[in-house]
Amino acid sequence: MSLRTPLCDLLQIDVPIVQASIGPWSTPQLAAAVSNAGAIGSQGTALVPPQRNREQVRRIRELTDRPFIVNHTARPLSEEAFAVTLEERPPAISYALGDPGELVSRAHDAGIRFLQQMHTVEQAERAAGRGVDAVIAQGWEAGGFCGDVEALALVPQVVDAVTPVPVLAAGGIADGRGIAAVLLLGAQGVNLGMRFLAADEAGIAEGWKRRILEATSQGCGSRRVRGRGLSARDRRGIRHPTARPPDAVRGRVERAPLGDRPRGRTPERRARRLRPREPRARARAVHRTDGRDDPRRPPSGRDRRQAGVRGGGGAPQRAPARRLKPP
Ligand SMILES: Cc1cc2nc3c(=O)[nH]c(=O)nc-3n(C[C@H](O)[C@H](O)[C@H](O)COP(=O)(O)O)c2cc1C
Repeated sequence: MSLRTPLCDLLQIDVPIVQASIGPWSTPQLAAAVSNAGAIGSQGTALVPPQRNREQVRRIRELTDRPFIVNHTARPLSEEAFAVTLEERPPAISYALGDPGELVSRAHDAGIRFLQQMHTVEQAERAAGRGVDAVIAQGWEAGGFCGDVEALALVPQVVDAVTPVPVLAAGGIADGRGIAAVLLLGAQGVNLGMRFLAADEAGIAEGWKRRILEATSQGCGSRRVRGRGLSARDRRGIRHPTARPPDAVRGRVERAPLGDRPRGRTPERRARRLRPREPRARARAVHRTDGRDDPRRPPSGRDRRQAGVRGGGGAPQRAPARRLKPP
């Protein structure tokens, strides 16, 4: 039995599955493989120079004659890269992390479909008002930058708000059960990121792919980050305390998709945290000593009375103790 929804007709695909942009880790090979399989692949442009965008679009065209999507984001939008996309005329553009404004009509003028990813009902209504062809309701569960509302709650609300504009669900969907669930919520398709990040064709190291496939529920989490050109927002991914996969590429691949630097109280961090820093240790030693002639000792009440300072009574002054949280 084939799974078709009206979205399939809109995007001219066989199954209502979009391979989400996974930023600079998207590859033409991945987008083309997904499109060749009957779904639709996306090429990310985030952090990619405009000329590279053009090369990648052309490479996808060499690898498939099926529809595909070029993704842009408002982090910030590269006008130059967007202009390249319009020139190359992919079948569809997806946009995320901001109001698309007149980008929608510019795409439509070039004969390109426009999909808008958003996090709230209000944003969805605004996108629908801009004339987008489909709305992607991205839940808090989504890998990468995400909003605050879970897909289970967000998707039906967005469907109610923007019908007849088709809605795709994004966030935490990784297999057929997830797809079936969001179709029941009224979505017409899905936008999957993290699962495709683990595909052979994705542009990350094998160690990371293994980590994604072996990830446990307790091994994932979100972290509030400030993206380039963005206000602070959550980014979800896999926690990686200290160990890094031996074959992971250092730098961008490690930082962005999978949750940034080591988090939580690893033994190493705890030890660092509990080790008093040099100046603070010295200050405590000063407080504990009775050496009245120590010039660094803060004046006691008696000192202050002798010096004629008003209100000089009371307990000797102490610097407020810094409380260490229990490990
Ligand atoms: C590593 C990574 C990078 C992403 N980069 C982008 C991006 O550049 N543009 C975009 O619109 N969405 C991006 N997303 C979000 C996806 O579009 C999608 O909403 C999300 O992956 C869906 O949730 P899932 O990862 O649980 O499937 C990214 C997601 C991941 C995991």
